[in-house]
Amino acid sequence: MKLDVLLGLQWGDEGKGKIVDVFAPRYDVVARFQGGPNAGHTLEFDGIKHVLHQIPSGIFRKNTRNIIGNGVVLDPVIFKTEIGKLEKYNLDVRSGLFISKKATLILPTHRLLDQAYEQAKGEKKIGSTLKGIGPTYQDKIGRQGLRVGDILSPEFPQRYKKLTDIHLEILRDHSVSFDLPALEASFIEAVEFLKSFQLIDSEYFINEELKKGSRVLAEGAQGALLDIDFGSYPFVTSSNTVAAGACNGLGVAPMHVGEVFGIFKAYSTRVGGGPFPTELHDETGALIRKEGNEFGSTTGRPRRCGWLDLPALKYSIMINGATQLLMMKADVLNIFQTIKVCTHYKLNDGTETDRIPFEIANEPVVPVYKEMKGWNVKLEGSGWDDMPKALREYVEFIERELGVPVKLLSYGPDRTQTILR
Ligand code: GDP
Ligand code: IMO
Ligand code: MG
Repeated sequence: MKLDVLLGLQWGDEGKGKIVDVFAPRYDVVARFQGGPNAGHTLEFDGIKHVLHQIPSGIFRKNTRNIIGNGVVLDPVIFKTEIGKLEKYNLDVRSGLFISKKATLILPTHRLLDQAYEQAKGEKKIGSTLKGIGPTYQDKIGRQGLRVGDILSPEFPQRYKKLTDIHLEILRDHSVSFDLPALEASFIEAVEFLKSFQLIDSEYFINEELKKGSRVLAEGAQGALLDIDFGSYPFVTSSNTVAAGACNGLGVAPMHVGEVFGIFKAYSTRVGGGPFPTELHDETGALIRKEGNEFGSTTGRPRRCGWLDLPALKYSIMINGATQLLMMKADVLNIFQTIKVCTHYKLNDGTETDRIPFEIANEPVVPVYKEMKGWNVKLEGSGWDDMPKALREYVEFIERELGVPVKLLSYGPDRTQTILR
């Protein structure tokens, strides 16, 4: 069977967690391939809301196994807390969750370095979630990181100390205060806890499953516009969030990739710094934030809100090879009589383009909008034909512009508020 990939086409928080949970019964395995606890994936069913940071969103489905892949950066302390929160649901987490020995460990000092680097950036700060993501990937690429499999080695304590000493040396030049013994005590405890899980060579596991005919879904974190190569650098995260990242982050060859599900909201949001052409600083932006409850699932920060950006989506679809689109949070736009969609950008020299210019971080572009009729009613029903005409026209316009079919529409946070087309 093929490896399907589900990922965000915008700046994250598109609703990936909800849809992975909805799709999970169709899959034997769900696997995270990049990012770490900077992710906050929300699932809602039976009146309960769950937010997952490191654990794949297939965890609530009985017959789905879940993998934390080699491309992930894992914080044992956050992992332990997350597992603790799941305990009351009587899930058999230990038998269904597998962690790659090649996933990179986030140490307490990585989190401190994240803080130090952000502080040093002053006005130009990225708006990191401060979970230690950047410094951990830096150590991975710098070939000095520690990996999950290393915790089983008798030399782990020395290797941990060696890397921590390097970090402490850097931290000496920054004004970050911390209580290292306390941080280390919880880290050591969490590492012991992690040892009680199934630590595996996940690339063998996944390839053997695919060969056997199992269905595997790769769950992206963040979004394509936060990708380290293709996002609005330097206002990005430190991993490849795009479809190709699933190959690196799981050890699956490109020829095995099947569907690429590209998720987007019916509008745009971004949390943290960086260019956001359609951002609304007015009442409309505030209304979208309120209706969409646009506050970060990981940090609680208010998300920046704006209209849908088609040039940005076209770019993401190209980079990812999205084969189907899933449109989320249509209900958030119920309140509007008219809705705007950005079709082009106007550049400084007066020309229009539907491409993202390299210079976007320093030379802001002006969005060119098409105005559309809003549906302005509460969304109800279970089929596409139950949806109001104006919403269907909005979706059909987007499809025509993007050249990829919208196969799913979400109109509420609950599992059931989902329409397959
Ligand atoms: P993720 O990071 O992509 O998994 O998305 P988040 O969980 O960070 O943010 C999406 C938010 O929107 C969560 O609070 C979801 O419960 C919520 N959500 C998902 N789909 C819908 C939808 O169709 N309508 C509304 N109103 N909320 C939704
Ligand atoms: P999910 O998976 C939205 C943003 C941060 C910051 C930048 C870098 O829930 O969609 P980092 O902590 O990675 O160094 O932060 O990326 N960011 C996210 N924004 N959703 C996320 O994840 C994000 N993960 C990181 O706000 O701007
Ligand atoms: Mg999120």
